[in-house]
Amino acid sequence: MPLDIAPIDLLRWYLDAGVDEAVGEMPVDRFAASAKPAAPVLVAPPAPDRPTVVAEARPIVAVPAQDGVTAAHLAAGCQDLAQLRQAMEGFDGLSLKRTAISTVFADGNPEAGVMCIGEAPGQEEDRQGLPFVGRSGKLLDRMLGSIGLDRDSAYITNVVPWRPVDNRKPTAEEVATCLPFVIRHVELVDPKLLILFGGAAASALLARHEGINRLRGRWFDFSSPGLPRPVPAMATFHPAYLLRTPAAKREAWRDLLAIRARLDMHS
Ligand code: URA
Repeated sequence: MPLDIAPIDLLRWYLDAGVDEAVGEMPVDRFAASAKPAAPVLVAPPAPDRPTVVAEARPIVAVPAQDGVTAAHLAAGCQDLAQLRQAMEGFDGLSLKRTAISTVFADGNPEAGVMCIGEAPGQEEDRQGLPFVGRSGKLLDRMLGSIGLDRDSAYITNVVPWRPVDNRKPTAEEVATCLPFVIRHVELVDPKLLILFGGAAASALLARHEGINRLRGRWFDFSSPGLPRPVPAMATFHPAYLLRTPAAKREAWRDLLAIRARLDMHS
């Protein structure tokens, strides 16, 4: 039965009910889907040496690599960035690595005090072996430039260092596998401030389940046993999202100004 309600009123109703983000770009007809017979679900018995990965933010569950060496184990043994890069280049626990050309480690100045974390490399990043050098990287550079930062005064990396084929989002398990590396990366850089670009980086590093709309624009403390003190962290929209949704640049601009103000307060 068609709803006798104006779209704007329906939208208001959603907002009042607390809905603040769409989970997909296309509407899904759940009635049609549930009318179809369910496909049989094949449940593989858990391998004895492979604990179930709980796909939640900042999972502590170690994801075993093929040869049994976990990312957590490798990362914990790294005492500097060169060792971390080498450990990641030698890691064999994620199938993404086999289809990627490069392990995209980082770019910029690790001494700068500002560390930016994105999601995962795209095609151009994979080709050049550097983060944020494609289209969204150009916008990232402009965003940083707008608050007086560049690749000499900021350090840039990603949660996942290998390109997911077809530029899809990394899965929760892929993020979970790589998380010990990026956490150790933050510990070794020991920045004064973290900027998290997009929902994947924000929810993984902040261990929060909310979407980017709720996480952005707020200060969080990023704490980890290998850090001398918690690092103030702010999430904002990913430049790729801003390229698709220019209207959101206003909020991103607000976030960048708050970051600038915080940097000025402590300089
Ligand atoms: N998007 C990211 O999140 N990281 C990159 O390096 C490039 C695009």
